[in-house]
Amino acid sequence: MKKAIVGLIGLGLLGGAVNVMASPESDRQEVIKYFTTKYPNISIEDYVYGALAFDADSKAQYDAIMEFPPYESVLEKGRKMWETPLKSGKKYADCMPNGGRNIAGNYPYFDEKLGKVVTLEDALNACRVANGEEAYKLGDKGTMGTLTAYMRTLSDGMLMNVKVESPKALAAYEDGKKTFYSRAGQLNFACATCHIQNAGVRLRSELLSPVLGQTVHWPVFRGGDNLVTLQSRYQGCFKQVRHVPDKQGSAKFNNLEYFHSYMSNGLPMQASVFRK
Ligand code: HEC
Repeated sequence: MKKAIVGLIGLGLLGGAVNVMASPESDRQEVIKYFTTKYPNISIEDYVYGALAFDADSKAQYDAIMEFPPYESVLEKGRKMWETPLKSGKKYADCMPNGGRNIAGNYPYFDEKLGKVVTLEDALNACRVANGEEAYKLGDKGTMGTLTAYMRTLSDGMLMNVKVESPKALAAYEDGKKTFYSRAGQLNFACATCHIQNAGVRLRSELLSPVLGQTVHWPVFRGGDNLVTLQSRYQGCFKQVRHVPDKQGSAKFNNLEYFHSYMSNGLPMQASVFRK
């Protein structure tokens, strides 16, 4: 199986133009097969817990914390932001599909007209701008972070459902896949080194989470109150391997999020969870 993953890495780096018919679905199945073979006792549904799926004690602690989440006041603030009319008088719910409910699992999506990947945060900013407000800074805890901490809870339980349906969309997906599998930084690690090959293994004091399920639960509250968005986490992981991270919302990060989210297709969303 390791060989298959090494093969995947090769594909990620060299594929692109050659392997036009590479299928995101077969990539996803390959990753699932890798983990279910390596860890037969962990069920697919448990991958939403990340590293906690490998550590019963930490999972029990997590369950206790999640009964009375220490960050409820942030969600309440986010709810007020969500419900407050924008300058035009319209609300966010008026510009998001389905009033903003049960949609987070459809993001990021490839916008054929814009010719690029659009994240949920990008869509909320587009809504703000169209309604007379300034865009929020991506990853900012007090604004976009707080707004999405609440807004994403409206999709709790929805299954991740990212689609790759055109050649251009596939190119964006392949670009994200390449970022995920490319070694970079002074330490020469790829995302895949830690979150595929070494998932379930301890790195210093931390158990590494598997790529499967990594995108279904954002933002997280680290230590209970430190709000971290998904792309802020990307930046943190890039820095860990001494690699200069991109800006949030860059084509590189959005394409990475597109590929990364596709890998979690079929898993249920649960926004705003506790993490160490
Ligand atoms: C040197 C190893 C290492 C590399 C390389 C690395 N990470 Fe991480 N990552 C970690 C550690 C440690 C954590 C915290 C423990 C955990 O949840 O895995 C983490 C956490 C995460 C999380 C949060 C998981 C959760 O459930 O809260 C995401 C998402 C993530 N990494 C994505 C990435 C991406 C994308 C890349 C490539 C740009 C990457 N990581 C590269 C070590 C790494």
